[in-house]
Amino acid sequence: MTTTPFKDRARIDAVDKVRGATAYAADIPVPGMLYAMLVPSLVAKGRIATLHVEDAVSVPGVVRILTPDDFPPPPEPVRFPNADAPPTLHRDIAFRGQPIALVVAETLEAATEGAERVAATFETQPFAATKRSALAVREEARPTAFGDAEAALAQATMTVDVEYESPAQHHNPIELISTTAVWTDGRLTIYEGTQFASGIKEVVARILRIDPGIVDVKSPSVGGAFGQKGWVQQQTAIIARAAMLLGRPVKLVTPRGQIFHLAKFRPNSTHRIRLGADAAGKMTGVHYVADQQQSRRGTFPPDYHAGPTRLYGIRNYYGGGVDYRIDTQPPGHMRAPHEHPACFAFECAVDELAYGLGADPVDFRIANDTRVDPQNGRPLSSRHLNECLSRGAQRFGWSKRTPKPGSMRAADGSLVGWGVASGIYPALVTATVATLRISADGTTRFATTHHEFGQGIKTAIGAVLLDGLEIDAAKLDIVLGDTTVAPQQITAGSWGTFSVVPTAALAVERMRAAISELLAGRQFSGTIHQQLAAIRRPFLTVDVSLLGPGQDAAALERLRRGQYAIAGPTFPEFTAMSYIAHFVEVQVEPTTRRIRLPRVVSFADCGRVVSPRTAVSQVRGGVVWAFGAALREATEVDPRFGGFLNNDLVDYVVPVNADIGEIEVDFINEPDPVANSVGVKGLGEVAMVGASAAIVNAIFHATGKRLRKLPVRIEHLL
Ligand code: MOS
Repeated sequence: MTTTPFKDRARIDAVDKVRGATAYAADIPVPGMLYAMLVPSLVAKGRIATLHVEDAVSVPGVVRILTPDDFPPPPEPVRFPNADAPPTLHRDIAFRGQPIALVVAETLEAATEGAERVAATFETQPFAATKRSALAVREEARPTAFGDAEAALAQATMTVDVEYESPAQHHNPIELISTTAVWTDGRLTIYEGTQFASGIKEVVARILRIDPGIVDVKSPSVGGAFGQKGWVQQQTAIIARAAMLLGRPVKLVTPRGQIFHLAKFRPNSTHRIRLGADAAGKMTGVHYVADQQQSRRGTFPPDYHAGPTRLYGIRNYYGGGVDYRIDTQPPGHMRAPHEHPACFAFECAVDELAYGLGADPVDFRIANDTRVDPQNGRPLSSRHLNECLSRGAQRFGWSKRTPKPGSMRAADGSLVGWGVASGIYPALVTATVATLRISADGTTRFATTHHEFGQGIKTAIGAVLLDGLEIDAAKLDIVLGDTTVAPQQITAGSWGTFSVVPTAALAVERMRAAISELLAGRQFSGTIHQQLAAIRRPFLTVDVSLLGPGQDAAALERLRRGQYAIAGPTFPEFTAMSYIAHFVEVQVEPTTRRIRLPRVVSFADCGRVVSPRTAVSQVRGGVVWAFGAALREATEVDPRFGGFLNNDLVDYVVPVNADIGEIEVDFINEPDPVANSVGVKGLGEVAMVGASAAIVNAIFHATGKRLRKLPVRIEHLL
């Protein structure tokens, strides 16, 4: 494996992005377009009694109104991940905001007015809005357990017994959720910002009872996804059906207010943790039960233990998971879906334990390192968490910290707190296929599995192709998220780089071999393109596919059928995880108690860094998101009617530039020696993990207050 660091390069899509030239799905121009608007249910549970569309149809420009009668009966038993029912129009209402009708019109204005004029009455049923409702159904998942947690806790010198809570939160990327469907010549083309184009192809076909072979899905550039766009949306099949019924293209851009009720969200979760250490300062046992809000038939698992089980060398662990099934839309993935809330709770508990023992929070963590996966004793592919902690501490100036809470002050009298926390995330991988074509005209095209949603995957792929082939970046076209050029696996879980960068490296190797075979010893000067021109070959193509460690051909088959083809973090020979350490300074103003975040240092171990600039951006974005999670973001449930109250960006408060100070990011940048040929692990999600805990630990150091419920607000510090 070569270990030369990759060069710092601008984002491959930077110029297009800043010029506004990047075409997101809803920007694709299609002639003859009709515009659509959904009609949401006003009740949380029950059944549509009457649905009157006459008034809406009379609005000038309204072309058609789709109702539940316009859909074929649900297909035979088929699993719709994270969905209570196939996402179409139904008479049975499972959550407030569920679509009950779709108005299609010549203009957006007519569609909007028509949607307001659809009149429905409902037979309502009692519903559960929160986990604590009497109608919530408690359901335990299979625990993650090893060793004997109770015995270890009974023998511990010091224990903490604490409960932490993380609220429901909603994604709010700039790009709204949208679908454009085009039905021509017996083919259905769907343009949608998604992380799983092949999932849409397969599931929409099943819902509409058509052949997936006639469905193409294109998601060229996504304006923010991170779990929100990880599966088929509530509207996708509805819009496709409208286009097929009307024989004209139909576009829906879901208004932000509706997205709060339609899209995936991070469920509220509660984390009860008992954690013990011995007299020598080694953590010995954990009993940790996490519960979360769940929809009636949702499948987002309450599994919060993949990270905490492997963060330190703790040999006795009991990890429970509980769903409270209530009448909400299905919760789902949102950046570091389990690891963020889990490590918020766990890393705050670790801080409490370190304080209880009188230990320095950095030294305490370093002393609890592990060289194996405590779950199963397997070796770790690589682990540099202790280096992240020690180098991060040095960069931050941790040695100047005085441990006593409330003991540090800023020049303006603000209380200063310094906090630390670790983060961890599984290194996951998917089967991936790619086609690399080099043409004598100087162009290069690389079409592959996976999607660009701003995380920088194109730039990472580009780094490998540009270094390996010495080609012109301006003439390199990387095609992603398009089912017509490659089967599309869901791009999520920080597995994009791990999966596709080694595939790009393989394609480069095969291309170089193919060229030298073609040249058969002949010598031509110049680039690969010029050599092709010299032998009068218009282009040369190589097709490659790559499996993750331990995956077999079945994974490739699943990929081709639009199903999950994911492996890790435990592989046959090893466990692979990514790590990070966050160091945070908070300042709390003495009178207003306003919390500021002037300074963060984050040091990450993601294996080899392929794209330094976008990697730094990923980490900054993760820290900003963690700031939002720690101090701003929460979706408030409406106990009267179900659904969410603060469904707009006025009341769902996210971080802004003025909130954020300096975020310094660095990497260990040591290639993982075994995970893959390039030495990469994942980075995206681990960036966020633990950062909220570091903020809350810093607030404790500043104020002496242990705050265990997010988001922390000014009133909690009064
Ligand atoms: Mo991942 S939950 O798609 O950021």
